Amino acid sequence: MRTIRWGILGPGAISRKFVVDLKTVHGTDIIAVGSRSQDRATQFASEFDIPRVHASYDALADDGQVDAIYVGTPHTFHKEHTILCLRHGKHVLCEKPFAINAVEAAEMVQVAKEHRCVLMEAMMTRHLPAMVKVRELIADGAIGEVRMITAGFGFRAEFDPKSRLFDPALGAGALLDLGVYPLSLAFMLLGEPATIDARARLGETGVDEEAAVLFGYPDGALAVLTMAIRLDIPREAYILGTRGRIKIWPRWWVPSRISLKKPGGDEQILDLPFKGGGYAHEAEAFMDVIRSGRLESEVMSLDESLSIMRTMDTIRAQWGLRYPVE
Ligand SMILES: NC(=O)c1ccc[n+]([C@@H]2O[C@H](COP(=O)([O-])OP(=O)(O)OC[C@H]3O[C@@H](n4cnc5c(N)ncnc54)[C@H](OP(=O)(O)O)[C@@H]3O)[C@@H](O)[C@H]2O)c1
Repeated sequence: MRTIRWGILGPGAISRKFVVDLKTVHGTDIIAVGSRSQDRATQFASEFDIPRVHASYDALADDGQVDAIYVGTPHTFHKEHTILCLRHGKHVLCEKPFAINAVEAAEMVQVAKEHRCVLMEAMMTRHLPAMVKVRELIADGAIGEVRMITAGFGFRAEFDPKSRLFDPALGAGALLDLGVYPLSLAFMLLGEPATIDARARLGETGVDEEAAVLFGYPDGALAVLTMAIRLDIPREAYILGTRGRIKIWPRWWVPSRISLKKPGGDEQILDLPFKGGGYAHEAEAFMDVIRSGRLESEVMSLDESLSIMRTMDTIRAQWGLRYPVE
């Protein structure tokens, strides 16, 4: 099996978690890290035993030893950093949300295609064994036709106007940071919605602190999705079908248990643990795409990432929420 040589761009909170898991994945070599600061790059490199240290993202992207780069910077930089890496011929696994809006996402996809590099949104949830099982159960008709999805993601963060969660300059708000998970679940099971109704409470910094989104589908199915950065939303999700329902147990976006309940029957519990913190599965899926010579993942396709971004644009337009970078 060909070893994939990784570079890490932006050694922050999520990159740290990702690297802990990536180190356990067979056929990987984390050989480089790039930061805006020499000190932060050096510190990250020594913590994780990474040999090549770059004091700029350009230098990392230009590193000829690197095959693939994980982009772990705040949302507003995903486009710039992803395109930088793609232009240097690197495959890119880019953190969620894929970009700030659909225009940015389309540019990223275009450059990936031009340079024939793999590009994938790091929506880790989709690659976990429990989610693979959910897809299988639904495809096998275990709950009949899916009629409704209910899912939410929210926690009470301390208000800090300078933080990534609250600062509009960093693409803050519940939708892009957390809402993208329930939206992505609905897309995975029902595809692009035909109708979108969204309400939000915008907070002091002008971003959505709580929001509810209702998707409607041509066959009448519904997705009821909630998100918040100032409220603790219950952490299970349900998929309701004409012949039963699936519960995805807390935390549903990193699940290790699901259950199946048919009318009149007992609840059947299925335990499907994930490895480490859950990030190894998306890394394996991404590397499989690279090794196979394909250019994108079927589980998290570029069309779907684009469609999710378009939908988030529509939702924000309903709230009148635009970011300074737009
Ligand atoms: N998949 C998941 O489970 C998950 C979980 C949390 C977050 N995320 C996503 O990952 C991304 C990063 O989140 P995070 O919490 O890791 O962010 P973070 O720690 O605040 O920032 C990550 C790194 O980005 C770099 N950076 C570049 N320009 C920056 C700027 N102008 N301001 C701040 N940092 C900048 C910094 O590295 P240097 O300055 O050292 O280069 C920083 O350490 C977000 O898009 C988020 O949605 C995903």
